[in-house]
Amino acid sequence: MASRRLIDFDIDKYVRNSKKLDLSFLDWDDIPRHELSDGDVMSMQYMMDIETHTVIYLRDLLATRAAKDPHVTAFLACWVYEELWHGEAFSDFLRSYGLEVPVEPRLPDGRTPLPTRPRRTAQIREQLGIGHRLAILPSMIGSALMPDFIALHMTWGAINELTTLTGYYQLIRRSSHPVLHQMLRRIIQDERRHFAFYRAQAKARLTDNPRGGRLVRWLLKALWTPVGAGVKSDEEVDTLALYLLADSPEGLEGARSIDRTIAEIPGLEGLTLIEDVVDRAVERRRRNPLWAIPPRVPQRTSPAPPREPHWVHTAAAA
Ligand SMILES: [Fe+2]
Ligand SMILES: [Fe+2]
Repeated sequence: MASRRLIDFDIDKYVRNSKKLDLSFLDWDDIPRHELSDGDVMSMQYMMDIETHTVIYLRDLLATRAAKDPHVTAFLACWVYEELWHGEAFSDFLRSYGLEVPVEPRLPDGRTPLPTRPRRTAQIREQLGIGHRLAILPSMIGSALMPDFIALHMTWGAINELTTLTGYYQLIRRSSHPVLHQMLRRIIQDERRHFAFYRAQAKARLTDNPRGGRLVRWLLKALWTPVGAGVKSDEEVDTLALYLLADSPEGLEGARSIDRTIAEIPGLEGLTLIEDVVDRAVERRRRNPLWAIPPRVPQRTSPAPPREPHWVHTAAAA
């Protein structure tokens, strides 16, 4: 019963304070003056596309018994809005740097209308095909048959959010772009709250629930894939894992720290999902040295497009 479950997360405070990401403090004009490596751009494009895809993940969640819990749905309503702005942040950053593939429509005055990158987003969703559209069915059936299925979704969400924010820290480590560092540190603040919600939900639902813990553990081992898998190709997932997590002891420690934190959820002791992903990517690269190399950054447009007025409006309204 939800009323007897203690959730260690202040949902009232989160809903009251949830807002659009404010990036008005960034020096947008400074972005094209610093270099991004091929790996930096690959990482940012991956992050942009997956942040933008969050609303589709929401569809899957709402098809389950998660939709019955008013605290969960209040969180999801704010979460999906915040994630939309994360996608827009990466989109605007890359365009300010001079990268927009494919070229997107502009307003008559040269500004980019929201949502940005509708062509790219539509293309990604089109390529997913029927298999991805039917992926909602196992969630619906699993949720209907198993009361603990929601604990799986909450745990999955915790892993995704922690992987995301760890990936952003690793990109700060790998990239020398000072404005990107500032933007990522600001986005990480949001991701920490998202992770805290999912972890609190997962812990509450699996505490004193060994049967649920065994089920979630078994389903994660059988079904879990890294954030972005299914939307991105296997090689793209490996490219990101190799660039951010397999390049150095610091990267590997980032991967292990995710596993250690997730292993603190009851029933998940000793799981090494992220380290296993990195190990498999390293092994595929070892067998094929050309596997999962970040693509060359395309020709940048010059001069860089004008800064984005919607971030500036945020500052004026504050
Ligand atoms: Fe995000
Ligand atoms: Fe998030």
